Amino acid sequence: MFIQSFKVESPNVKYTESEIESVYNYETTELVHENKNGSYQWVVKPKTVKYEFKTNTDVPKLGVMLVGWGGNNGSTLTGGVIANREGISWATKDKIQQANYFGSLTQASAIRVGSFQGEEIYAPFKSLLPMVNPDDIVFGGWDISNLNLADAMARAKVFDIDLQKQLRPYMESMTPLPGIFDPDFIAANQGDRANNVIKGTKKEQVQQIIKDIKEFKEKSKVDKVVVLWTANTERYSNVVVGLNDTEENLLASLDRNEAEISPSTLYAIACVMENVPFINGSPQNTFVPGLIDLAIRRNSLIGGDDFKSGQTKMKSVLVDFLVGAGIKPTSIVSYNHLGNNDGMNLSAPQTFRSKEISKSNVVDDMVNSNAILYEPGEHPDHVVVIKYVPYVADSKRAMDEYTSEIFMGGKNTIVLHNTCEDSLLAAPIILDLVLLAELSTRIQFKAENEGKFHSFHPVATILSYLTKAPLVSLNSLSIHNMKFWKVAKLIIVVATTQVPPGTPVVNALSKQRAMLENIMRACVGLAPENNMILEYK
Ligand code: NAI
Repeated sequence: MFIQSFKVESPNVKYTESEIESVYNYETTELVHENKNGSYQWVVKPKTVKYEFKTNTDVPKLGVMLVGWGGNNGSTLTGGVIANREGISWATKDKIQQANYFGSLTQASAIRVGSFQGEEIYAPFKSLLPMVNPDDIVFGGWDISNLNLADAMARAKVFDIDLQKQLRPYMESMTPLPGIFDPDFIAANQGDRANNVIKGTKKEQVQQIIKDIKEFKEKSKVDKVVVLWTANTERYSNVVVGLNDTEENLLASLDRNEAEISPSTLYAIACVMENVPFINGSPQNTFVPGLIDLAIRRNSLIGGDDFKSGQTKMKSVLVDFLVGAGIKPTSIVSYNHLGNNDGMNLSAPQTFRSKEISKSNVVDDMVNSNAILYEPGEHPDHVVVIKYVPYVADSKRAMDEYTSEIFMGGKNTIVLHNTCEDSLLAAPIILDLVLLAELSTRIQFKAENEGKFHSFHPVATILSYLTKAPLVSLNSLSIHNMKFWKVAKLIIVVATTQVPPGTPVVNALSKQRAMLENIMRACVGLAPENNMILEYK
């Protein structure tokens, strides 16, 4: 049975006028390596930590500013939300299609609430906590190309033509603000597009972005703004001691107009200064150590990197299944070809490299979790290839071959072929990212040993289900003036240490989803979903 909403009644939960207060007993374990009569052994001690959560239930009017608004993702998301809001339907060659939010965790997935008279009861994911309704979002943003959103939608070639005709009147008047353009950071083939750019020094550009956010907030009368980067993939910036390794050095470099500060880092600085959440949907290292420091000190939410939409999502499911089943993946080879502007930009080696890095770490935690299958340091061969093929436009092809060792030296090869409009996968993920980022800023919590309530760590690992390379905070990394390739290699190595100190990076998709759902359940005093269903055993 499916129910639309529910309320929890428990001594652990209190619904006040503007808050849900919950007390939650977090059952966890503590591990000790103990010397017992001369030999060491691992001892696991279950422990319970009492947490209190407070969720502000005043849902704000939300403004979403997209960097790269006029791109395929930006125009597809904007058109998709308008189509849902206006209840638009359109004729395809198969049927009359209604607007929907398929692919959105918050809008189109369900959670199990419990059982009633022997029947499982499910409810919408979004019914767990009060969230912004996508209908009420006001969109805005920047693009280095000045096309209005209706023309950008036509350029993207994602929506059916009948839908485009209906959306055009709503989107014609939406024009992106000029963006920060630096040809050194994206492929040279993007130069022709850049006819809408902010002039001036890097510091002046940051000031302009701050001004844009303030003006957008005022004009559109929204209470809160979230900014999300869905612009072109940039090359990695060099991380250099004295340049961008600390907050002070990054801000001093900004004053000196240093060339190596990327446009995406400039937008992120502006957002952190304004205390506006900033999410990076592309793979590059926007969040250089100095920026992470800045965000932590100002307690301003940052999240990323790189939307987890297709191939990587499958990978984080399939490898979790294989390793979890005791099967040993030994070679994972992923080919992609795509013909949209993202594909054209990725055809340059430097930007491709950013994507390759972000796609490459995704199996690490699963491989490291099973030392029966893998020797220390052993790793499957993992190769990623991306090719630009204009004819297929936004309809991306992803082909994967997984070879694994099975029982008694046998080999198993699984081949996947995935064809799908790339932006129709990414747009619902962007929606989830902004909605969950906003929600997470309304949650406060404290453990029993903490004096006062605090928000989540500003590096938002809670969004990891939606990103390929979950960002985690990198503490005082000393990198000495390395060139890009070296830094890129190092980034692969340190990716597992870039968390709020001590935080493990989890890529397995079901774990990431369970983490998010269970934290939201804790906010309303519900136990985590443990799938034991003991009452029927
Ligand atoms: P797109 O190329 O259609 O759109 C990017 C837009 O950003 C363009 O309109 C461009 O003019 C604009 N732009 C570039 N630099 C800018 C800057 N500095 N400031 C403002 N605007 C700027 O690309 P698409 O397909 O929309 O993808 C966007 C990003 O999302 C890419 O980096 C892509 O790698 C990433 N991504 C996409 C996924 C998907 O579509 N399934 C999955 C994962 C990541």
